[in-house]
Amino acid sequence: MNDFTFCTPTKVHFGKGSVEHLHDEVLAIGKKVLLVYGGSSIKRSGLYDKVKAALSDCEIYEQAGVEPNPRVTSVRAGAQQCKQHDIDVVLAVGGGSVLDCAKAICAAACYDGDAWDLVLDNSKVTKALPLITVLTLSATGSEFDAAAVISNLDTNEKLPLINPLLYPRVSLLDPELTFSVPKNQTAAGAADMMSHIFEQYFASETNLISDGICETILRTVIACAPRAIADPNDYEARSQLMWASSLACNGWCSLGNGIMPWPCHAMEHEVSAYYDITHGVGLAILTPHLMRYSLNEQTVERFCHYGKAVFGMSDESDRMAMANKAIDKTEEFFTSIGLPNNLTALGIDDKNIDAMAEHAVAHNPVLGQCMRPLSLEDVKQIFRNSL
Ligand code: NZQ
Ligand code: ZN
Repeated sequence: MNDFTFCTPTKVHFGKGSVEHLHDEVLAIGKKVLLVYGGSSIKRSGLYDKVKAALSDCEIYEQAGVEPNPRVTSVRAGAQQCKQHDIDVVLAVGGGSVLDCAKAICAAACYDGDAWDLVLDNSKVTKALPLITVLTLSATGSEFDAAAVISNLDTNEKLPLINPLLYPRVSLLDPELTFSVPKNQTAAGAADMMSHIFEQYFASETNLISDGICETILRTVIACAPRAIADPNDYEARSQLMWASSLACNGWCSLGNGIMPWPCHAMEHEVSAYYDITHGVGLAILTPHLMRYSLNEQTVERFCHYGKAVFGMSDESDRMAMANKAIDKTEEFFTSIGLPNNLTALGIDDKNIDAMAEHAVAHNPVLGQCMRPLSLEDVKQIFRNSL
């Protein structure tokens, strides 16, 4: 195992009614609150009213309308409000996009220049307002990690902002808040969690502990996502998906591993940047193609091991055939929960492939250290294979 230092400073309240903790957690920090949320989902579900009632003795300002694939324009507007009203604490209520936008607001509120500077150079984050989150969609793990992903429509860029100062101070995780998540977003969320694991599991240097954790989370998502899609109010399924989401992306699954270049995310963020698609849908499409491309004599045993541990496959003497079956099963799972398996289905053609591949490689110089090292031409080919 490689050496590591690890700390997740986020306090989690998990379970039914965990929003009850909101008042005390907010007041422990301060009274001036910026409430950040997305479209109308929290109003439709009644959560907005609940939050406002819980914080009736606070001074609340609002940054509403955060977009899926949150824009830097929303970050700028939120940061401006924080500065203007001398906000004590930012409260994000929503899915990963809302949480990500709120994280970037927390950092931009303490920065004198433009918010996009922080995205381009994460080391410029030297201070951030405290963040409390109420999660409504299980997918990204933003509730338990230090990352935000922000889009800039002017430049067709979607880039991560990662800094330890961006861990939420507190996250309230009530699986019942995800009962209203539609089937397509539930499926996309499942694909996102699985992809977070794949990025850590299909790497050149892993260890037995991280492998076991990753395999357990994958089996859990594969078991629970179809249940949550069939019955949106299945508390057991929703709760396991919610905790899987939190665990899949905060780094603890892969402690001690070697370098993990996250190639699928590097590629998907480009597709999202150009076409504004749902992140988990893009990942579900790219994943099997990336896997097939990565399969060779050096990686075949990894895919066979995955097939056995995650899908319960039996060993086969033809290792390539077995590895391919494991990849096919991954694709079949995604299509079984209603996700597409090609970019053409989203109306995407080859027009921007060169530009997307160039950006992916430029922003992620470690792609050459993937399990099968990826060059610019490789990335282009995987995009083409995914059409
Ligand atoms: O905007 P509202 O009205 O709230 O509707 C949202 C949105 O339309 C809706 N929704 C959320 N909770 C709901 C609900 N609808 C009904 N009931 C509920 N309880 O779902 C739609 C999608 O929401 P969004 O927040 O965009 O989805 P998700 O959580 O998948 O977040 C995706 C974003 O996170 C980034 C992605 O790139 C993408 O921009 N990621 C963030 C990561 C991180 N912070 O660590 C890592 C990920 O890999 C990912 O890149
Ligand atoms: Zn993701």
